[in-house]
Amino acid sequence: MSIALVPIGQGPDDLRFFIQADGIHAGGITVHSAKGGSFSYGIAIAPSMRRRGVASAALSLLFAQMRKAGYARAFVQVTPQNAASLALHRKLGFVQTTEDAHAVTLVKVLSSGSSQQTKMTSLQP
Ligand SMILES: CC(C)(COP(=O)(O)OP(=O)(O)OC[C@H]1O[C@@H](n2cnc3c(N)ncnc32)[C@H](O)[C@@H]1OP(=O)(O)O)[C@@H](O)C(=O)NCCC(=O)NCCS
Repeated sequence: MSIALVPIGQGPDDLRFFIQADGIHAGGITVHSAKGGSFSYGIAIAPSMRRRGVASAALSLLFAQMRKAGYARAFVQVTPQNAASLALHRKLGFVQTTEDAHAVTLVKVLSSGSSQQTKMTSLQP
């Protein structure tokens, strides 16, 4: 399956992307904050497209491009009840930093070794 991130943001600070799988809309990613070498984001995959590796591939593309743009750490906040997202992010190498009744925060230090390419543009550290 070919995964692409299609920028839909309105400028360099508006990092929103549609995820396409073999040219079909499959979900979206929004980067909420990007500063000081770190960023956080949310991701959602259409129910009919889940458990096919779409989120894993899309996040791999996002991380590779953000790493190239100078970011070193990715953060994500997940509700404690969201077993799918917790499993996804732990499988991707995220480590839990904090947890309270509302959110689990996980972090991943981005590898500089990824060779994946994406169509994203206009990233600023
Ligand atoms: C969480 C979400 C993004 C995962 O997307 P996805 O494309 O299905 O994820 P992947 O197919 O890449 O899954 C990778 C791994 O994550 C884990 N995983 C994903 N969904 C899972 C589920 N429902 N239950 C348990 N583990 C799950 C598995 O380890 C999976 O690998 P496997 O399929 O080989 O077992 C998707 O379920 C979703 O959009 N949920 C609603 C929105 C949301 O909760 N977003 C996250 C907020 S940050």
